[in-house]
Amino acid sequence: MKKILVVGGEGYIGQIVCSELVDKNHEVISYDNLIYGQKTNSQINKKPNFRFVNGDIRDSLKIRENLENVNAVIILAGLVGDPITKKYPGLSTEINQKGIKNLIDECAGYNIENVIFVSTCSNYGLIENDELAKEDHELNPLSSYARDKVDIEKYILSLKGKVNSCFTILRFATAFGLSSRMRYDLTVNEFTRDIFNSTKLEVYDPDTWRPYCHVQDFANILLLILNTEKSKILFEVFNAGSDENNHTKRMIVEKILKFVNFNEVYFVNNKGSDPRNYKVNFQKLNSVLGYQCKYLVDDGINEILTHLQISNENSFKSTKDLGNYTINI
Ligand SMILES: NC(=O)c1ccc[n+]([C@@H]2O[C@H](COP(=O)([O-])OP(=O)(O)OC[C@H]3O[C@@H](n4cnc5c(N)ncnc54)[C@H](O)[C@@H]3O)[C@@H](O)[C@H]2O)c1
Repeated sequence: MKKILVVGGEGYIGQIVCSELVDKNHEVISYDNLIYGQKTNSQINKKPNFRFVNGDIRDSLKIRENLENVNAVIILAGLVGDPITKKYPGLSTEINQKGIKNLIDECAGYNIENVIFVSTCSNYGLIENDELAKEDHELNPLSSYARDKVDIEKYILSLKGKVNSCFTILRFATAFGLSSRMRYDLTVNEFTRDIFNSTKLEVYDPDTWRPYCHVQDFANILLLILNTEKSKILFEVFNAGSDENNHTKRMIVEKILKFVNFNEVYFVNNKGSDPRNYKVNFQKLNSVLGYQCKYLVDDGINEILTHLQISNENSFKSTKDLGNYTINI
């Protein structure tokens, strides 16, 4: 069993990843500064193989203390998405660029079996033709959030041959699905909730494409990397998701409307509000690591609708809508 430091372990994806690793009997440290004032993961808080450390990635001393004897580091921490990074530009540079670089330097100083940096498919930005972007496709980041991710990727790749730790970069598709630290500011989750609640929904740039991936599939992929021989993952970049889950926003709305009757969805062709438009090829994940995603977008919609129905019947919200809206510092 491995000792794994999950940095950003109390986030939307992090809480699912930590639960999965704890379930598989790994020793897990979740390192997170709870920047949104969120609660820690109550499902695993008391498990003997889990420990939460309230720490910031900018605190080198605390990072070093927690890197002692770890076999693997999973880097999920940061300000995530365009809205929050635009709202807090200074803090965003400090965390997503300087903080993450600092963390990587600390990891590079050890001999760690796996250091996995979670990047984003947003790095592809805008692809004019119908091409599905492979890992070597030109990167075209259109926001400071994506530019910082691209900078960090380049920085990691520049360490190849110079350090002992084994780095791997995963470019995650846009996430969906339930988590104990829920985010309803992500497309599939947000649209499903709004349509379920009969909230008038305006969908901007409805025909722009993105790839999507269920949070549980991300946890499975991370677990797989930890168990993969070094030669296949050393300083490699993988798109994480599945070709089947490339969709436009309009297609996602149509999927939700198969389950819920609602006629107040308005498509707004507002070119320029979010220029991102890209489809992604995930064959490398399949051919090199043998992974095929288990969940389609329809599965995520069903799961969220069921959850909302149960919450409604019990007249309480068991999964709070925290999202990435405001920072409490
Ligand atoms: N959610 C998505 O759709 C998506 C898509 C592609 C890539 N990703 C990447 O996956 C990772 C996790 O995303 P998420 O959706 O779980 O986001 P999230 O905001 O829910 O999680 C990020 C976590 O980082 C923590 N954090 C922020 N600043 C920190 C700091 N200075 N020190 C320590 N901890 C800090 C936050 O408290 C939070 O728990 C991110 O790196 C993100 O870029 C997410």
